[in-house]
Amino acid sequence: MARPTNVQRAGFQTATVTRIVKESVDARTFVLRPHEQPITYRAGQFCTFRVTVDGEVLYRSYSMSSAPETDSELMTTVKRVPGGKVSNWMHDNLTEGDELELGPVTGRFCLRESAAPLLGFSGGSGITPILSLAKSVLATTDRRVRLLCADRDADSMIFGEALTALTARYPGRLEVRRHLDSSGGFLDADAVRAFVGPDGHGEAYVCGPEAFMEMVENALPGPGAIYSERFGTPVPATPPVSADPIAGGAAVVSPEIGPSGTHTSVSAATPATAAPPPQGETGTVTILLNRKKKTVPRRAGETLLESARRAGLVPPFSCEAGNCATCIAKVTSGHATLRVNEALTDDELDEGYVLTCQAVPDTDSITVDYE
Ligand code: FES
Repeated sequence: MARPTNVQRAGFQTATVTRIVKESVDARTFVLRPHEQPITYRAGQFCTFRVTVDGEVLYRSYSMSSAPETDSELMTTVKRVPGGKVSNWMHDNLTEGDELELGPVTGRFCLRESAAPLLGFSGGSGITPILSLAKSVLATTDRRVRLLCADRDADSMIFGEALTALTARYPGRLEVRRHLDSSGGFLDADAVRAFVGPDGHGEAYVCGPEAFMEMVENALPGPGAIYSERFGTPVPATPPVSADPIAGGAAVVSPEIGPSGTHTSVSAATPATAAPPPQGETGTVTILLNRKKKTVPRRAGETLLESARRAGLVPPFSCEAGNCATCIAKVTSGHATLRVNEALTDDELDEGYVLTCQAVPDTDSITVDYE
C-alpha cells in the first residue's frame, strides 16, 4: 500500500518515571521527567502514551493530575481496570527509573476566564483532570471551588490526602464532598442538585463514566456553563457510576457543553444513514471495530473517523487534531491521505496505519480496521 502523503511528523519523546505514588487500591500516579523538551500544558489537559505490550504498540491518553502553576513535576494518574491492556501494564510493569514514550499534550477541558465558582463532579478516576483544574484555579484566582467526588468505596478514593491538604490550605475556598457507592448507592440527580444549591451560576466540570456524566449534565440546574471530559470508546450501557471510565485505559476526549448549553460533544455515535453519496462521489467506506463491520457510502472530504460515526459506530478518539493517535487504525484496502500527522512514525505509516481523525480516503473504496 502506498504511504500517505502530506504529513507532518512530530512526535513522541522518552520520559523517565521518576516516582510512582500509590493513590488508592487501584490507582497510581506516575511522575514523569521528559528527556528532550519540557511538556507545556494547561490544567485539565491530557497526554498520549505509546507503550508496547506483548509486542503490540498501543496508544492511550491520560489526563495530568499535576497543574503547571503548582507542580514542578509532570504527573499522570492511572487507574487499573479489568482488561485494560495499557493501564494494567503500567501498574504491573513500571517501576521507578523506567522509561515511557510520551506524545503531545492536548485537550480542551481547561479553565475559562470567569469569576463564578468552579463546581467539579468526578466519578472514579475522573477526579484526575478535576484535581489539576482545582489546583490551578485555587492558585491563580480567588474563585471558590466545590467538588463532588463519587467513588466505589473508601479504598477506591483517589487523592484523599491531596484534597485534604488543599482544603486546609484554602479554607473557605475549597469544599470537597465525598460520595461512596458502597454506602450511599449510586449518586443521583437529587444529590447533584442539592450539592449545587445556590451555586447554579457556577461553571461545572464533569468527568467520569458516561452514565455518571450524563446524569450530572442532566441534573445541573444551570445557568452556569458545563464542561465535560468524555472518553472515546464505547462503555457498557449502564456502567457502575464509579467504575473506571474505559476498559482499555483512559482515552480521553474533550468535547464540551458550552455556556449556551449546546452540547458540542462529538463522542456520541450517530445512526447509520442510507443517504446516497453526493453527486460525483462513488465508493464505500468499510469499518471494522469491536467485531462489527459497517459499510457506508463514501462522502467527499469526510474523514474515516467521521465515516465510522456515520456508520453508527463509536470509534476511539481524543484530540481530533492528529496529535494523540488514540484514533489509530489500519487501512487494509484502498488509500487515505492524512491532513496532519503529529503522532505516527514512518514505519507505522508504511504498515498502513492512519490517524482516522485526519485520514480522508482518496480511493473510491477503502477498508479500515481498528483492531
Ligand atoms: Fe488524536 Fe486522532 S484523535 S490523532
